[in-house]
Amino acid sequence: MRILVTGGCGFIGSNFIRYMLKKYDDYRIINLDKLTYAGNLENLKEFHQTTEIEAAGYQFIRGDICDASLVDRILAGSASHGPDSSQVEAIINFAAESHVDRSIEGPAVFFKTNILGTQVLLDAARKHNVKRYIQVSTDEVYGSLGKKGYFTETTPLAPNSPYSASKAGADLLVRSYYQTFCTPVVITRCSNNYGPYQFPEKLIPLMITNALADSSLPVYGDGLYTRDWVHTEDHSRAIDAVLHQGKDGQVYNIGGNCERTNLEVINTILEYLDKPETLIKFVSDRPGHDRRYAVDSSKITRELGWVPRYEFEEGMKITIKWYLDNKEWWEKIKNGEYLAYYKKMYGNR
Ligand code: NAD
Ligand code: TYD
Repeated sequence: MRILVTGGCGFIGSNFIRYMLKKYDDYRIINLDKLTYAGNLENLKEFHQTTEIEAAGYQFIRGDICDASLVDRILAGSASHGPDSSQVEAIINFAAESHVDRSIEGPAVFFKTNILGTQVLLDAARKHNVKRYIQVSTDEVYGSLGKKGYFTETTPLAPNSPYSASKAGADLLVRSYYQTFCTPVVITRCSNNYGPYQFPEKLIPLMITNALADSSLPVYGDGLYTRDWVHTEDHSRAIDAVLHQGKDGQVYNIGGNCERTNLEVINTILEYLDKPETLIKFVSDRPGHDRRYAVDSSKITRELGWVPRYEFEEGMKITIKWYLDNKEWWEKIKNGEYLAYYKKMYGNR
């Protein structure tokens, strides 16, 4: 199978590419990534052996999903000098601006990449008769839950941040291409991921790396906001199942069945690293902050046989160890333009 993966140099996309190339010897993956602040070639270091000759089965193209002519050339086979130029059978769209706090600071780029970029990919999928288009979406499109209940695939969309609104907008576009043009699309909506190579602006890697530096751990509001955590490898396995067995026009929720408050997550990190709770610093809350996410994944379990394999405490142990073993990876990020970002977001908080 020949697959176009977009956003493959980010956290989830790079873990997915690694998972797929390990599992399927004969698959070919083209990775189209703009390399924004969140895209990092080091996330796939072993495949980027040189800029010219890449690992068999893998090709990287630096570019923007909003660039219709580039996407068209890739699908026509004329932009790739990779292992073979046969037809791309599937597009898996991970490319996005993905951080809620950044969407509050500057929403415009979220709508451009997440919505218009999706439209470019859908048009290209339609033109080139791609057999499967997967939109990697998020449970955040459903908005926020009270103390009880779960998001199902039929929960109405009620996004609360510019990020989640842009993802919801993209989901509606994807749905419309199925209804109007019979484009063979599938939408996945996963809850919060954790694992290796996550950019240290997100809760878990931010707290691990700050704790390792004995810096304060900024907790928004009362810290009792709840997320449903999924290890990124479980997310990869779910997308693999959807790629091969999902039904056109369907939405599949993916959740870890693992709700934790932010303070519980942070305390797990502090305990493992043997750092004091005094590092915790309560700071002003995020505007529009969703109180609770919890996903009902019974549909993907029933129809595709997927269940998460990682138990949270075990997955966290492995993840924290990865950050301990890969200091160079995150120190390089945290010493770069990230310093200005951190000052802006947390300086006066
Ligand atoms: P990320 O921010 O780590 O990576 C995004 C990648 O997309 C980067 O490599 C970036 O360079 C690339 N990109 C951004 N704009 C682009 C453009 N215009 N053209 C081409 N490439 C572009 O994000 P992530 O956490 O890996 O998330 C991947 C996808 O999964 C996103 O669509 C996100 O909405 C979704 N998702 C994330 C989570 C999570 O917990 N992180 C949960 C559910 C769904
Ligand atoms: P985040 O990793 O940004 O994911 P999302 O908002 O998309 O779920 O945040 C996860 C939770 O952690 C969310 O409730 C906000 C909270 N949070 C903090 O308390 N402090 C922080 O510095 C960050 C980045 C997040």
